[in-house]
Amino acid sequence: MSGLRLTVDRLTHRYGTLTALRQVSLAAEPGRVMVLVGPSGCGKSTLLGLMGGLLAPSEGEVRCEGEVPDDCLNPMTYVFQDFALLPWRTVAGNVALVLEDRMPRPACAERVRAVLALTGLADFADALPKALSGGMRQRVGIARALAVRPACLLLDEPLSALDAQTRDLLLEEFAALIGRAGTTTVYVTHNLQEAVLLGQQIVVLSRRPGQVREILRLDRPLAGRSLADADLAETERRLWRMIRDDAAEAERERADAPA
Ligand SMILES: Nc1ncnc2c1ncn2[C@@H]1O[C@H](COP(=O)(O)OP(=O)(O)O)[C@@H](O)[C@H]1O
Ligand SMILES: [Mg+2]
Repeated sequence: MSGLRLTVDRLTHRYGTLTALRQVSLAAEPGRVMVLVGPSGCGKSTLLGLMGGLLAPSEGEVRCEGEVPDDCLNPMTYVFQDFALLPWRTVAGNVALVLEDRMPRPACAERVRAVLALTGLADFADALPKALSGGMRQRVGIARALAVRPACLLLDEPLSALDAQTRDLLLEEFAALIGRAGTTTVYVTHNLQEAVLLGQQIVVLSRRPGQVREILRLDRPLAGRSLADADLAETERRLWRMIRDDAAEAERERADAPA
């Protein structure tokens, strides 16, 4: 296990007059996966941007503790839903892209080989992106992110551009992969199945302005988790009840509001 501890202390974020997040406190633990789950517009991407230093908070602070390992080329590494692979480069070439200007050729080749093995892409090293399925391409996106040996991996709905079937097929494998990577991970999703399959700490955010509604723990390792596991299914139901109540409340408020 490796990676940084990211502590979020009473963060508030405003875009002009709109308050996106209010007084959010939480901590992503070294080498573990934190999932941020909540309805669309509740401030998940904003929170991730604040945690990774892409945005500066209106109030509060983000603290980063721990050692960044020597072989880490980029401590905070993002994976977004819309990943861009260069169509004229092979899978290996796309992964090498982030490394080749920064390390000698043999070291780069070795690191690409290792990360393709880790992500189950070894047999596709020489394939061009157009020959890959959406799920495989997203795996290349993860491989590219892991290649820099991030101290913290930040993923913003990385599977939501995939069709439901591809996503379901990929999900358990994806959990195992992120577990193997063993770095501090913050994973944003609105999908409850993803939340229970990937989360060791699941932070439920309320609708806007996003506040921490509840934090659930599922401490066991990601490897071997399955959508058929009873404890995961139970946690998913609990999450659904929380989020459903929140949505119903929002509906009632809208109905009560003067026209
Ligand atoms: N750059 C921005 N300028 C103004 N409002 C924004 C900006 N980015 C996000 N918002 C608003 O802040 C709220 C939270 O957005 P976001 O963090 O993207 O939520 P989520 O990722 O949970 O869907 C939304 O109401 C959104 O419209
Ligand atoms: Mg978002």
